[in-house]
Amino acid sequence: MNTIYKRRSTRRYEEKDISKDLLDKLVKAGMQAPSAHNKKPYEFIIVTDKNILNKLSGTGLYCHMLKYAAAAIVIISTADDKQTPYWQADCGAVVENILLEATDLQIGSCWIGEYPNIEKSDKVKKILEIPNEYQVFATISLGYGTEEKEPNNNYYPEKIHYEKF
Ligand SMILES: Cc1cc2nc3c(=O)[nH]c(=O)nc-3n(C[C@H](O)[C@H](O)[C@H](O)COP(=O)(O)O)c2cc1C
Repeated sequence: MNTIYKRRSTRRYEEKDISKDLLDKLVKAGMQAPSAHNKKPYEFIIVTDKNILNKLSGTGLYCHMLKYAAAAIVIISTADDKQTPYWQADCGAVVENILLEATDLQIGSCWIGEYPNIEKSDKVKKILEIPNEYQVFATISLGYGTEEKEPNNNYYPEKIHYEKF
């Protein structure tokens, strides 16, 4: 449980690779997330090529850290609302699982939003040659962090209602 409280967005990384085993472990943790009707409407692209990471870092205002990242995991979905209208919720659960597994493995991570920013995600699609029928849900930037961040205090009792609103 401590991992939940330790997780922070990390955007500065050492120049150190993440092993394939650990990257696979992260994706495995992602796939362990709950999924509505167990549809699991997602696939993954693991990127470690510096040239591609550099290109991805230029797709938007808030993803510059990819330039220094050891890897990125891009979560894509066929995003077919008829098949499952819960695809975004499913993908969100996947992303959080990966962030928590990364924290547990002492790998820094940051969630980079893609969908519904179509302009940005189209650039990602082009760089990664993702077929048109897919949507890019999110990119996770990964690397061994160079910053120690204190846990956030995100507990807001005023947001909680008991029994009824
Ligand atoms: C849907 C979503 C999209 C996000 N997109 C970005 C992003 O594009 N770039 C970024 O640096 N951080 C992004 N974040 C990370 C948030 O900025 C971060 O979680 C928030 O500031 C709280 O900080 P913490 O993660 O360290 O607790 C995103 C988070 C979520 C949940």
